[in-house]
Amino acid sequence: LLPNPKHIAIIMDGNGRWAESRGLPRLEGHRRGADAVRTIVRHCRKLGVSALTLYAFSEQNWSRPHTEVFGLMKLLRRFVQTEWDEIMDNGIRLVTIGHTERLPRFVRAPLDSLARASVANQDMILCLALSYGAREEIVDAAKRVAADVLAGRLLPQQIDEQTFGSALQSSVIPWEPDLLVRTSGELRLSNFLLWQAAYTELYFSEKLWPDFEAADLDAAIESYRRRDRRFGAVPGGHREELGGGAEALTERERVQAC
Ligand code: IPE
Ligand code: IPE
Ligand code: MG
Repeated sequence: LLPNPKHIAIIMDGNGRWAESRGLPRLEGHRRGADAVRTIVRHCRKLGVSALTLYAFSEQNWSRPHTEVFGLMKLLRRFVQTEWDEIMDNGIRLVTIGHTERLPRFVRAPLDSLARASVANQDMILCLALSYGAREEIVDAAKRVAADVLAGRLLPQQIDEQTFGSALQSSVIPWEPDLLVRTSGELRLSNFLLWQAAYTELYFSEKLWPDFEAADLDAAIESYRRRDRRFGAVPGGHREELGGGAEALTERERVQAC
């Protein structure tokens, strides 16, 4: 069995359908979704997960009706206020990825305050993807790398996966996601962590996000632990057998060592 995943990423989908199926406004689904966030953050902390990245609002979600977007923003602010103490008491560091400068000030200010207040916390990283799109993140990184080249700090031939990866905003988290969960039965990534998920194990749950409980995460982790992560090498491979696959082995060892 694999060890528990160090970094779990979740596409929290299905709030709208949860509400609509009950004849409730979509925002009620988001409200219940926020409760599920609290449960899952707590559970991850209890399990000793090192990093949890939650897709909370995509760059593309700005195209939703204004009332839904505004409602989500208010929920986000409330989340920061109500979770502040628990996050601090549990040694959780809050970070964000995405174009958070697009968020209204009344959300950005408390988010930034909590990020600053929790910067030295070391027990778990909670990363909220807000106004996030993976292609946007990759394009931003390309711009940073290009600027470094232009300034003479970097030669084009020095650009490798390491340097490029560290130009990504999400490089604040030192581990790529081991396990990516998407709820609500949709089988797509919707512009989430396209670079980082190259070798992430995927798990799809039929449950709508507001119904997702600690036991569902346990089931996802259980499924993950039974898998064989090969990273392009051979099943259950050993160093001798792998020959030229030294890079894959390093990645494999990284996973199995932790
Ligand atoms: C996920 O739930 C939350 C956000 C995208 C903000 P949805 O709002 O996408 O719910 P469905 O997919 O319409 O059911
Ligand atoms: C992805 O869900 C974004 C979040 C969960 C925040 P969407 O509901 O926006 O994705 P699509 O539109 O179904 O692909
Ligand atoms: Mg959706």
